[in-house]
Amino acid sequence: MYLKAVILAGGFATRLRPLSCSRPKALFPIVNKPLLQWIFEGLAANEITEVILAVNALTQFHIKQQKPPKCGLKIKYAIDPPKTPLGTAGAIKITEKIAKYEEPFIVLNGDIFTEVNYKQLMDTHVKTGALATIALHKVEDPSRYGVAELEKGNRIKNFIEKPTKEQAPTNLINAGIYVLDPKIFNYIPIDRQCSIEREIFPALAKEHKLFGHINEGLWMDIGTPIEYLRTNKIILDKLKEKNNLKTPKNLEIKKPVAIDKKVTIGEKTIIGPYTVLGKNVTIGDRVQIHNSIIFPDTKIGDNTKINGAIIGENAIIGKNVQINNGCIIADQAKIKDNINLTNEFAVCPAKEVSETILKRNVIC
Ligand code: GDD
Ligand code: MG
Repeated sequence: MYLKAVILAGGFATRLRPLSCSRPKALFPIVNKPLLQWIFEGLAANEITEVILAVNALTQFHIKQQKPPKCGLKIKYAIDPPKTPLGTAGAIKITEKIAKYEEPFIVLNGDIFTEVNYKQLMDTHVKTGALATIALHKVEDPSRYGVAELEKGNRIKNFIEKPTKEQAPTNLINAGIYVLDPKIFNYIPIDRQCSIEREIFPALAKEHKLFGHINEGLWMDIGTPIEYLRTNKIILDKLKEKNNLKTPKNLEIKKPVAIDKKVTIGEKTIIGPYTVLGKNVTIGDRVQIHNSIIFPDTKIGDNTKINGAIIGENAIIGKNVQINNGCIIADQAKIKDNINLTNEFAVCPAKEVSETILKRNVIC
C-alpha cells in the first residue's frame, strides 16, 4: 500500500513563547531530537511513504535549515498563503493538488508526541467505511480539546471542539490524528479559513460518516512549557539512559538524563535527574541542573543552579546564577553573574538580564 500523510504545523505556538519566537513547535527538541523527527520515524515505521508538510513559509524555512532526517520519506510542502493562515481544514485542502490522493490518507497535528498505531487506525477506517476516522485518547480534563461522543460500532455521534467542562459529553478527546477519505475535499470550502474540528467534523457526525478509534498508547501534547517539560520527562523515563558524554571527571549524574555530543561539564557538578543537555553545551564547575532542558550551544557559568527551567540555544548564563520554577530563557539571551530568576520568568531572544527579578515577568 502507498500511504500518504499530512502534518499540520502552521500554527504560531503562542503558548510556548518566547522559545517559539525563533523556532516552530515541530522543531522543539524532545530529548535532543526534533519533534518532527520523532513523527517521521513513527510514520516510516508504519509504512507511510510520503509526507506533505502543511506549514507557513517561515516554518518551511526553519525546517529546511535544520534538515531533520527524512527517515526514507518523500517530503513535500503545502504553504499557507502569507496574509492569513487557512485553518486546519483549509491547510488540508491545499494539499489536494500537491498529493493527488487516490486512497485514504493520514493527517496529524504537528505538536503531538504519540505512539499511535497508524495501521490499526487505517483498519478501523476501512472496516467502518468512514469518511473520516479520528484517533481518540482518554484525558482527565477534555475542555482544552475536541471531544467525541462515541456510539456502538465506533461511530461518533457528536463532536464538540473545546467545550466547557460541563458541556463535554465524554473524556474521549481528538488526539489530533485522522484518516480521511479523499471525498473530504467536497466538504471543505476553497479560499477561506476553515477549521476541520469546528466545521467539518460536526457536519460529518450529523451525516453518520465520522468514526473514532480509541488509542491506548502514549499520547502527549507539547503545547505549553509545563507539557513540554513533562513530555521530555516521560521520554527520559522510557529511554532510561542516553548519554554521549566522553570524559566525566568528578561529576555526579543522577539518572535519567540525556546528554548529547560534545558537551563539556566542569568538576563537582551535579546533573539530573530529568535533565536534557543539547549538543555542544558547556557547563562550569559546581553547577547543579535538574528537571530542566538546555538547548544546544549554551554556556552555563560556575556555581549556577537551574531547576525546572528551559534554556534556549546559544544562551549565556553567568556564574552564581539561580534559575528556577518554570523560567524560560530564549535563544541567545544573556543572564549576567549573580542573578536570581524564578516564578515562570521569561526572557525573549537575545535579551540581557542584569538584575534579579523574582516576580512573573517577560523581558522583551
Ligand atoms: N498549515 C496550517 N495552517 N496549520 C495549522 C493552522 C493553519 O492555519 N492552524 C493550526 N495548524 C496546525 C498547528 O500547527 C497544530 O499542529 C495543529 O494544526 C492543531 O492546531 P492547534 O492550534 O495546536 O490546535 P489545538 O491544540 O488547540 O487543538 C487541536 O489539537 C487537539 C489535540 O492536541 C484540535 O485538533 C483538537 O481537537 C485536539 O483535541
Ligand atoms: Mg495543539
